Amino acid sequence: MTKNIPALKAINDLNRHIQPLQSELNAAVSRVIASGWFVLGSEVKAFEQEFASYCGVQHCVTLANGTDALELALRSLNISKNSKVLTVANAGMYSTAAILATRATPVYADIDAGSLLIDVADATRLITSQHIDTIIVTHLYGLLADVQQLVQLANSKNIPVIEDCAQAHGAMFNEKKAGSFGDIACFSFYPTKNLGALGDGGAVVTHRDDLAQRVRQLRQYGWESKYCATLAGGRNSRLDEMQAAILRIMLPLLDGWNARRREIATQYSKGISHEKIVTPTVHGEEYVAHLYVIKTTDRDSLKRHLSEAGIPSDIHYPIPDYRQPAYAHLFPEVSEPVTEQQCTQVLTLPCFPEMTDAEVDMVINCINTWK
Ligand SMILES: Cc1ncc(COP(=O)(O)O)c(C=O)c1O
Repeated sequence: MTKNIPALKAINDLNRHIQPLQSELNAAVSRVIASGWFVLGSEVKAFEQEFASYCGVQHCVTLANGTDALELALRSLNISKNSKVLTVANAGMYSTAAILATRATPVYADIDAGSLLIDVADATRLITSQHIDTIIVTHLYGLLADVQQLVQLANSKNIPVIEDCAQAHGAMFNEKKAGSFGDIACFSFYPTKNLGALGDGGAVVTHRDDLAQRVRQLRQYGWESKYCATLAGGRNSRLDEMQAAILRIMLPLLDGWNARRREIATQYSKGISHEKIVTPTVHGEEYVAHLYVIKTTDRDSLKRHLSEAGIPSDIHYPIPDYRQPAYAHLFPEVSEPVTEQQCTQVLTLPCFPEMTDAEVDMVINCINTWK
């Protein structure tokens, strides 16, 4: 460990993130307790308006978590048994779990070896060679995928597009925010996300009135009015008032946090120089540095070297969805060469807004002296 710099506790230190907000958060929680109203009340309503406005869309419907957001977005588009959903396999089972919950079939596009996001050429090949009912575009690690090109392609075939923005709150291209490009977009507010609650949370955002209305019903048993279910496939998936009140405190801070994350990522990409490591390109506002992910063919050795210096690292993600032990039997013929290769090479370094320049330099020095 470098002199005078304490060991980093995690790739994302939530204590340091939350501590400065403690008194405001306490006040918000006390306000909700005093109100006596805990589910679908004024805090949720206000947060939904504030987050929709932040994303530049008409509607936000909050939900219990990001996986529910994906599943209910699929259901709002009538995805069910016999439907096919195009997605990628390098993102921790999220889209696959949601697709399988609707009993639809995932169709996997490979990823681009540089960005690690959906390979548009492969997606185009799949969309033009078979019937696809919807596409999930995942803005992985906080980097916007080439969503405009995919939306154009999908529109030409009447295929709706779902954006998975769970790692990309606030990422922006040409003044348009993540979540405003497709038909409907999904967010997670899991605590480590760029906008994270103090528990689980999620949302969809959309400019389409019909989809917002359907997700509103689906999150509450399919009810059109109290105790009258007019939409099948509904269940309980709601954000609670405390989490909404907490997220309302954090939302105005998001752009500042994202800017600091991006600064750290840039410092890494400029500072890391090692023949066995590939660093991500330096990006502008289209990247909110949810995760800073490097690639190396000698990952175990680098991970060990970092750990010996007190530097945590993680792997996002080690197993393609179609190779997961519980599901591999469903996809015996699927093989995506780039996805599989990258799963063996990716390594995530610490990156959170409260990291100091000295800590970032310590990580860079440690990596550059790896033998
Ligand atoms: C890209 C992506 N999609 C979806 C999800 C699912 O969100 P949640 O954990 O809130 O269900 C996550 C969360 O980790 C994610 O990173």
